Amino acid sequence: MSTAPFMSNPRQADYPVNVQFTARWSPRSYTGEPINSDQVMCMLEAARWAPSSNNAQPWRFAVVLRQDPEWDALFATLNPNNQVWADKASALVAVASSHLATKAGTTEAVQNAMHAFDSGAAWAYMAMQAHLMGWDLHGIGGFNKDAGAQVLKLPAEHTLHMLAVVGKRGDPAALPDALRQRESPNARRPLSELAGRGSF
Ligand SMILES: Cc1cc2nc3c(=O)[nH]c(=O)nc-3n(C[C@H](O)[C@H](O)[C@H](O)COP(=O)(O)O)c2cc1C
Repeated sequence: MSTAPFMSNPRQADYPVNVQFTARWSPRSYTGEPINSDQVMCMLEAARWAPSSNNAQPWRFAVVLRQDPEWDALFATLNPNNQVWADKASALVAVASSHLATKAGTTEAVQNAMHAFDSGAAWAYMAMQAHLMGWDLHGIGGFNKDAGAQVLKLPAEHTLHMLAVVGKRGDPAALPDALRQRESPNARRPLSELAGRGSF
């Protein structure tokens, strides 16, 4: 598991859980350390084992390492407030999903209403695996999805959801003031607000 070289993690769970769930968080300061494609594939291997409706596995990923020819064009799709900090990322992994699934025992592809929901689970598995490997991910929804889809040649009947910034956590001092102040693990609503017994 990655150590927290710049700060301790003050997150407290309401109920006992494995520390990996509270230890993972999304930094904005990265070192720019190169990552190789096998390391990213280990993260995606974890995503591959996420559960999905009818085991349709609708998640699709496009990996762009910072030395890859697509880097500049993909980075240019990020909103300026995300470009400010994501420029030291080691890789960007686009998470998309396929709208169509072929159920077991059939040959016809049909619309899969659960494609986005299931792909969220895959992203979470990927983020946890990255953290266990000593890397960190930070999801970005703030980017031009049409432009991103063009750069990455997103096929028809697919939705591009987010970009995962992959990197090694860096020194918060490298961030602009406003972001440096936010560079720590954030809190969560109490579980009592989120979960009811017998009803929502
Ligand atoms: C789908 C998705 C989109 C996000 N988009 C952005 C974004 O555009 N910019 C940003 O700085 N953080 C973004 N985040 C990060 C969230 O703000 C962050 O995950 C949340 O505050 C919880 O913090 P934690 O990941 O450190 O636990 C996004 C996260 C997800 C899952």
